[in-house]
Amino acid sequence: MADLQAQIEDLWEQRASLTAGDGDALAVVREAIDLLDQGQARVAEVAADGSVVVHQWLKQAILLLFKLSAMETIEVGPFEYADKLPLKRGYQAAGVRVVPGASARWGSFLEPGVIMMPSYVNIGARVGANSMVDTWATVGSCAQIGSNVHLSGGVGIGGVLEPPQAAPVIIEDDAMIGSRCMVVEGARVGQGAFLGAGAILAGSIPVIDAETGEELSRGVVPPWCVAVQASRPRTFPGGEFGLPCLLVIKRLEEGQRHDKAGLNDILRSHGVTM
Ligand SMILES: CC(C)(COP(=O)(O)OP(=O)(O)OC[C@H]1O[C@@H](n2cnc3c(N)ncnc32)[C@H](O)[C@@H]1OP(=O)(O)O)[C@@H](O)C(=O)NCCC(=O)NCCS
Repeated sequence: MADLQAQIEDLWEQRASLTAGDGDALAVVREAIDLLDQGQARVAEVAADGSVVVHQWLKQAILLLFKLSAMETIEVGPFEYADKLPLKRGYQAAGVRVVPGASARWGSFLEPGVIMMPSYVNIGARVGANSMVDTWATVGSCAQIGSNVHLSGGVGIGGVLEPPQAAPVIIEDDAMIGSRCMVVEGARVGQGAFLGAGAILAGSIPVIDAETGEELSRGVVPPWCVAVQASRPRTFPGGEFGLPCLLVIKRLEEGQRHDKAGLNDILRSHGVTM
């Protein structure tokens, strides 16, 4: 893989002179995207010390793929699309359930047991085992979603490709993201946390402990807590306004599921034995 990384980094340096249809460069890039597609490499991961490690060269590979690919017409029955990248394939063999209307791009990775309701997963993103991507949820490029996560209806997980060093959104295992939440700009939701419906978490949004009033972080929800959308007063020359923040209203025991996070086993049944 080190050799492939060196080749991608080399192509990245020469990117200004690359054009769509450069077969040799495209073959190298496709090798890297196949690693993402098969789950053998990932754009970002959480290290043992809790920090996020971003593998920039894989994001560079994705950006190069766009540069080197030409537009093609793709027809599906009465539907027509125009794009540069193919869609992901082989769901049944991968043990993934994909409801009509859902699509994931080649170069994303879905672990066994994932369910995609009509939703979207972009290139470089990764969704962990038994996670549910509910209706109209979108998982942006390179976002990293853990196992047993529920992304409720209409959730928007932001994508990040440029700049290559920018950290993607990370949703850790067992988290529940309520309907219509938006998590963007490298924000992070800890293991087992529950984000109340309609919450907006960007990298600079303060996360405040309702018990103590302490600002716990910017853009990071700690593990095993329940956080809801709130506002905090801010004084400007023009007056006092409420700016959004997230309020941690409850702490859960480690491993505890909030009673509103009970998932319907029948809806999640796979019919696939792995
Ligand atoms: C966050 C949530 C889990 C809290 O549930 P809970 O622990 O039972 O807490 P409560 O409903 O008692 O609410 C506690 C307080 O937070 C407020 N609150 C609840 N949900 C909120 C939300 N989404 N945003 C802002 N405030 C919220 C309540 O008004 C209440 O305020 P109060 O103490 O002044 O009465 C729940 O309200 C929620 O948002 N669930 C998500 C549902 C969802 O999206 N399901 C997906 C279906 S696919």
